[in-house]
Amino acid sequence: MSNKNYKENSAKNENEAKDVLDNSKNENTEGETGENKKLVAYFSVAGEVYNVGTVDVGNTAIMSSYIVDYLKADSFEIVPVKPYTTIYKDLIEVAKEEQRNNARPEIKNKISNFEEYDTIFIGYPIWWGDLPPIVYTFLEEYDFSGKTVIPFNTHEGSGISGTYDRIKNKLSNANVNTNGLALQGKVSRTDDGKSETINWLKNLGY
Ligand SMILES: Cc1cc2nc3c(=O)[nH]c(=O)nc-3n(C[C@H](O)[C@H](O)[C@H](O)COP(=O)(O)O)c2cc1C
Repeated sequence: MSNKNYKENSAKNENEAKDVLDNSKNENTEGETGENKKLVAYFSVAGEVYNVGTVDVGNTAIMSSYIVDYLKADSFEIVPVKPYTTIYKDLIEVAKEEQRNNARPEIKNKISNFEEYDTIFIGYPIWWGDLPPIVYTFLEEYDFSGKTVIPFNTHEGSGISGTYDRIKNKLSNANVNTNGLALQGKVSRTDDGKSETINWLKNLGY
């Protein structure tokens, strides 16, 4: 794909992602019931994104929007109390420091009706070969017993980097499906990334 086509394609999917994520937020769900209720919980940092440029919607958020849209699921963005820097070279240092300290950054927002969800997709970027520390905060904050958990992630070369097994080990009471999907961040923003995500969901039986 030429650079011009890439930019147009990425901008289109970014705009669609904003609409999808705005309309699917985990809020005002009172009265909504139903079998097999699904939530897509994700962490993603907009701003200066490696190999992509400066964007309003991060790679993992865009990937999340494909899942939300296809499954008509609710979405929940893991928002830090202390916002992350949008400068890439600073962010990698902050992340390294968090990892070194085994930090558990606080999450600003809460899911009040977590028990209503049967299936929780969890999406994140690979940070230094691991889950971002705030995603560990999320895993530790809720009771996942008996839930189906399906991880997915974006990266720039590391793939899943062992993270699905780490989630499985951490959530020993949940049914963690390690057939997740890892997309290169740059690809996640394109129609190819969208079709790969939908094909993966179809293969999982959705
Ligand atoms: C702090 C930090 C550490 C990263 N470490 C890795 C890594 O170890 N392996 C990798 O493939 N990509 C790494 N990346 C690239 C991100 O995983 C990739 O750009 C991802 O798509 C960003 O997702 P987001 O836009 O949703 O935040 C790192 C990016 C950041 C900001």
